[in-house]
Amino acid sequence: MTSGERLALDAPAQAPASRAAALEAIAAEVRTCTRCRLHAGRTRAVPGEGHPDTEVVFVGEGPGMNEDRQGRPFVGRAGDLLVRFLATIGWRREEVFITNVVKCRPPDNRDPEPDEVAACLPYLQRQLQILDPALVVTLGRHSMGRFIPGARITQAHGTLHPVDPTTGATSAMVYAMYHPAAALRAPEVERQSYDDATGIPAALLEARRRRTTASAVAGAPATAEAFPTPPPDAGPVDPALDAPTFF
Ligand code: URA
Ligand code: SF4
Repeated sequence: MTSGERLALDAPAQAPASRAAALEAIAAEVRTCTRCRLHAGRTRAVPGEGHPDTEVVFVGEGPGMNEDRQGRPFVGRAGDLLVRFLATIGWRREEVFITNVVKCRPPDNRDPEPDEVAACLPYLQRQLQILDPALVVTLGRHSMGRFIPGARITQAHGTLHPVDPTTGATSAMVYAMYHPAAALRAPEVERQSYDDATGIPAALLEARRRRTTASAVAGAPATAEAFPTPPPDAGPVDPALDAPTFF
């Protein structure tokens, strides 16, 4: 790709109704969820939103004050910055899917506790199983820790890695970025984040290429239907996902 050229996201105008319905079923569960203590302090849960048939899923940490009020992800200042990052590559937030590791706001924006993360992760797993993205973009180190265990954000930002299928994204690559809130606090992180955003289209092209190769080898394309949504009480999260990586 030459710079300035927009990489079109490969999503049909009309998403399969079944995928949208499956995502809405998860959202409905999240809105009434009481699986962890974070439900007690929330105004509204924030399941996530976006194009049901997108190739790219952005995963933040958890809702902040504005998200908690509106029930939508990344609608405050960090969200505005995320939208500007997307604009630099010609994408709109409606074209991707945006969600978080935990769906309810931690009090005073503290980091989510490991047991809260563990309680909420099945929702993210199921969203990823349904969306079956080619690319997961992690926003911040907590989200990155779910997808690239042991990585350090200062080294991993702007780099592409295979995703462990137990995350729910069964044939995806992950691209790490700093959290936009960190970029709001530090001009150098903001500058670096714009740079990293510029790398997203190339990351998607590489993720698509690997996926095509992998499905050709397996002899069948990876489809959302191949990974049915587990029932609500689908048992514990993979133990490997239980301990988030905090840096
Ligand atoms: N920060 C996050 O991690 N997620 C949001 O939805 C908003 C701010
Ligand atoms: Fe349920 Fe997740 Fe909210 Fe906890 S954070 S109450 S697990 S939706």
